[in-house]
Amino acid sequence: MSRAPERFPEKLVDKFGRTVDYVRISVTDRCDFRCVYCMDEEMEFLPRDRILTLEELELVGTAFAELGVTKIRLTGGEPLVRKDVITLIENLGTIQSLKELVITTNGSQLVKLALPLKNAGVKRINISLDSLNPKKFKELTRTGELKQVLDGIKAAKAANFEKIKINAVILKNRNDDEVKALVDFSADNDLDISFIEEMPLGVIGEHDRAEAYYSSDNIKADLEKHYTLIPTPETTAGPSKYFRVAETGARIGFISPHSHNFCDDCNRVRLTAEGRLLLCLGQEHSVDLRAVLRTYPGDINKLKSAIVDSMDIKPKGHDFDLSVQPLIFRHMSHTGG
Ligand code: GTP
Ligand code: 5AD
Ligand code: SF4
Repeated sequence: MSRAPERFPEKLVDKFGRTVDYVRISVTDRCDFRCVYCMDEEMEFLPRDRILTLEELELVGTAFAELGVTKIRLTGGEPLVRKDVITLIENLGTIQSLKELVITTNGSQLVKLALPLKNAGVKRINISLDSLNPKKFKELTRTGELKQVLDGIKAAKAANFEKIKINAVILKNRNDDEVKALVDFSADNDLDISFIEEMPLGVIGEHDRAEAYYSSDNIKADLEKHYTLIPTPETTAGPSKYFRVAETGARIGFISPHSHNFCDDCNRVRLTAEGRLLLCLGQEHSVDLRAVLRTYPGDINKLKSAIVDSMDIKPKGHDFDLSVQPLIFRHMSHTGG
């Protein structure tokens, strides 16, 4: 069903009264890393014709912005392995009503792309970094090189982004001993850092997620042996709850889907690389926007109608349970983080 242009709401509100003003767009399911919590060792990637084109991605971004979305985050897979992603960012950057156009990356391409990203209008970037030990980094990413990412972080600093945030997924007995080192690295380099609890998305085979669970409270307790953490109400319109380190002023965030569920405040939806609009990271409720795009090419009103209608099926929250096999079979790399 399509609406007349004047019938579109100014903002997207779901049936629980939550306003959706943030969309995460996965521009590719491909990645040059194979992080053990994200992917299986052997992964099949989507054929090109099933991925949205740059023009389609741009139209989706514009449709969301016209419906009151003010923040777009590009994700993947690894967004920077998509050819022409800089052009997409430049084009999305012309949408006047967007307050934030940001990106989450594994850092592997930043030596080459940090400056072009900055010049294209990206103000903040989030970079994944789970270990500062080259051997452990390789174990966790399977194919990544620590030096490449550290050089990428340097390039990002040199490009003068307003903010750079490190994301670290912490797994028990794998990298939980590096929490302080990661905080110190971030403080020394003037970066924010968020610690993330692993989520059960896709079958990964490599480890038992229940056994590897290391809660945000564990991390906090580890850090409190060295530092005083003061809660702060600061927000980045993401799920992180932030603390300030009294001794250094550094900011630390915790993304705790298991121990401190944040679904009640959910303000976001995500688009998979193949154009499926997922209303929740941890549920299957979705709308096929690629079908709309390919049935009515270039028709932004059809797209906006589908997006407005999708609000009726946004679920209340996730049902993550680490003790059973994942209920959600798509991997994070398909989902867009
Ligand atoms: P900013 O707050 O804008 O800096 O970003 P962010 O922390 O929301 O985004 P980022 O891409 O850095 O994501 C960090 C982690 O948060 C990833 O593991 C995401 O999957 C997770 N995350 C983001 N949004 C949600 C959500 O709605 N639900 C859950 N469970 N996890 C989320
Ligand atoms: N659980 C939690 N975080 C994950 N990421 C990828 N897979 C998972 C998972 N299963 C993280 C990456 C990156 C962000 C986009 O998502 O480390 O920081
Ligand atoms: Fe690639 Fe990011 Fe998944 Fe690691 S977490 S495999 S870097 S998409």
